[in-house]
Amino acid sequence: MDKPALTLTDRFGRRIEYLRLSVTDRCDLRCTYCLPKGFKDFEEPEHWLTFDEIERLLGAFARVGVNRIRLTGGEPLLRRNLPELAARLHRLPGIRDISLSTNATQLSKYAGALKNAGVARINVSLDSLKRERFARIAGRDCLDRVIAGLMAAKEAGFTPIKINMVALSGVNDDEIDDMVEFCMAHGFVLRLIETMPMGVTGRNAAYFDLQPVKRRLQEKFDLVEGVVPGGGPARYLQTPDGKFSVGFITPISQHFCATCNRVRLVVDGTLFMCLGQNEKFEFRPLLRAGARDADLETAIRTAIELKPERHEFHETPQKIVRFMSATGG
Ligand code: GTP
Ligand code: 5AD
Ligand code: SF4
Repeated sequence: MDKPALTLTDRFGRRIEYLRLSVTDRCDLRCTYCLPKGFKDFEEPEHWLTFDEIERLLGAFARVGVNRIRLTGGEPLLRRNLPELAARLHRLPGIRDISLSTNATQLSKYAGALKNAGVARINVSLDSLKRERFARIAGRDCLDRVIAGLMAAKEAGFTPIKINMVALSGVNDDEIDDMVEFCMAHGFVLRLIETMPMGVTGRNAAYFDLQPVKRRLQEKFDLVEGVVPGGGPARYLQTPDGKFSVGFITPISQHFCATCNRVRLVVDGTLFMCLGQNEKFEFRPLLRAGARDADLETAIRTAIELKPERHEFHETPQKIVRFMSATGG
């Protein structure tokens, strides 16, 4: 008989099985709600966990109960040889799902290699289909490259491909229906996201409540509740024929902390327990001081004890000073 899978459970009885791995805090875009223009204060390369360190640490996470890994950034494709890392993580016993969140500026170059490496699912940030508006939001005029990246991902056979659209009041809220049509035409899953007050950029973003949009789209397209592969917080509606799904990520208007199943490991080896809180545990010193595998497993369990019950974006929106790019969302 197979050995029963171990489980990693926090103080609130939530099973932690999804690790978001930010492989770099750098990004080639400067989305207004994420990074300030001209920002350059990135982590020193000597602090980056190496691929060997990442593989070893994630092997320990897999042994105690993590079974999904999402590669994030900054922009993860800026980390050299990312497909090689993906292939190494794909081989870890216990890992059954490897996915990537990217801005797609470099995706046309890497889509094939990522697929061969075992990445199954890709989520792409795309806030506008209008060239100038895209450039205004992302700080760079590269909508064409992103669309080319998306088409390359489709060609390479990723399923599902999800489009992450951060809804911004007065900026792109008039484009939601165009984005629905674009996703319907290409077989992409659309996800609408509410801005979170991460850093001063996130706090200054024009928040847009998605509940009314949800009701409107539900009526317009006769949407019913749906399920889409993935492990994240989106709640989905789909067309009755199941061909199109739209997910709502609503940390502000309807939070989902009670079912949280994830933690975030960032490039310098810090594990953040919650996107909206500061509890953390540093793994780099352990890794670089020759910790044994059993020490790493014990440290992971100790770290998970620190996971807070929920974010406090409403109560203390000024609490999180790190930008979203540091933790990869
Ligand atoms: P899958 O469902 O597995 O496809 O992935 P995901 O939706 O969890 O990942 P993705 O990187 O595409 O994230 C989409 C949005 O959800 C981003 O804006 C994330 O910041 C947000 N998000 C993901 N996990 C959490 C979470 O635990 N808490 C909060 N507040 N937001 C999250
Ligand atoms: N609020 C909500 N989502 C954000 N993202 C970046 N910053 C924020 C924010 N302040 C999104 C990106 C990407 C995902 C990983 O996180 O657009 O789709
Ligand atoms: Fe880069 Fe993503 Fe942040 Fe935009 S949201 S600046 S693409 S990390």
